[in-house]
Amino acid sequence: MDKIIVQGGRRLEGEVTVSGSKNAALPILISSLLTAEPCVYQSIPNLADIHTTLRLLSGLGVKLDRETWARRDGDLTLQAERVGKLEAPYDLVKTMRASFLVMGPLLARFGEARVSTPGGCAIGARPVNLHLKGLEALGATIEQTHGYIVARAARLRGAKIYLDLPSVGATENLLMAAALAEGTTIIENAAKEPEIEDLAAALNKMGARIEGAGSDLIKIEGVSDLHGVTHRVIPDRIEAGSFVIAGALSGGEISVKGARPAHLEAFLIKLKEAGLTLSSDENSIKVKGNGKLKSVDVTTLPYPGFPTDLQAQMMVLMAVADGVCVITETIFENRFMHAQELDRMGADIRLEGNRAVVRGVKELSGAPVMASDLRASVALILAGLVASGTTEISRVYHLDRGYERVEQKLSKLGARIERVKA
Ligand code: UD1
Repeated sequence: MDKIIVQGGRRLEGEVTVSGSKNAALPILISSLLTAEPCVYQSIPNLADIHTTLRLLSGLGVKLDRETWARRDGDLTLQAERVGKLEAPYDLVKTMRASFLVMGPLLARFGEARVSTPGGCAIGARPVNLHLKGLEALGATIEQTHGYIVARAARLRGAKIYLDLPSVGATENLLMAAALAEGTTIIENAAKEPEIEDLAAALNKMGARIEGAGSDLIKIEGVSDLHGVTHRVIPDRIEAGSFVIAGALSGGEISVKGARPAHLEAFLIKLKEAGLTLSSDENSIKVKGNGKLKSVDVTTLPYPGFPTDLQAQMMVLMAVADGVCVITETIFENRFMHAQELDRMGADIRLEGNRAVVRGVKELSGAPVMASDLRASVALILAGLVASGTTEISRVYHLDRGYERVEQKLSKLGARIERVKA
């Protein structure tokens, strides 16, 4: 297995550009299942999760050209004209839970979908009960058999749906299903993440009639069919936030191009409270590390709250800040696996259930560490950038799921980071 080796202590300077959003791209690529016409998507990042999605879609019969995508800077054309199979198999759902998102569009357009039951994963149980409850409200019958969830409906019918939790995945699945249902659907307590707004924007360009995406009440007037689309996905706010922290930790000055500060408000407010100097315009964030960081308490919450996907990275910053703080994780259970690895690098973090008490230390020191999930893996790279000596990170396949060319991007800023092939 590949490893990433980081030599710490270098100041980062210069500009870095964020890639297209992974979490926006996944549902948007899957939404191509809703039409027989070609769909052109731009700014699709070259990541392991995207490759998994393309394998899933081509297994269903969607026509796509991966080589052109790799050559043409993220442009990808998909056409779901001849969908032969209505099934998402276990080997794909288990590598990427977002595979479950094919359920809504397959059911809405073809009347049936079979998706392998997603198991638990490293960051908690992550059930799909809200997806299923919503689809049932739209008139689907759901059956669980031989490790598969099978949903059927001759034609979905609009309904009023209340989500017990503002689940991102459930909101996306239901948006896609309701777009082709008969009549009006209202989703209450919907997730408000920018990725939901982006999916709704892409669907509306296909002829869907969705209002209110980005708020907690979404109204969808179902239509009988949708057409092709050209859509550019939004920049990745989590990648952007990770680079901002890299700049802050290194004490240098970096400009994160393509970052939309409007998508990162809670995060940027916390960084300012911690004493960082930040400036931004609509499409970039500049950070200047001034060496003096104060501890601040952080609680992860659904958007527009502090994103759980930046919690691990924030913990690294707090590990070297002045003072003691509490980081509370309210979205996922088991999302503190990076804490133990950070302690091995000299951090002082004590876990109490879903709270981490982080006492800032003067310095971290490089060590061999192991990535446990996507966001933890980038947090360990960040820790390696600020630590003295060498940090060797194993299990970096997690990183490749969500960060495009991260070693190249950080090297360009002046970091000493390399990948060692197994
Ligand atoms: C998405 C993001 C992930 C991010 C998360 C929260 C993608 C591909 N992934 O994941 O990066 O960390 O949002 O911002 O976009 N839940 C239920 N029942 C359900 C669905 C969810 O109880 O049917 C719970 C989950 O266990 C979790 C919480 O709701 O505790 C949030 O999950 P959800 O918003 O659905 O996250 P994902 O869509 O899986």
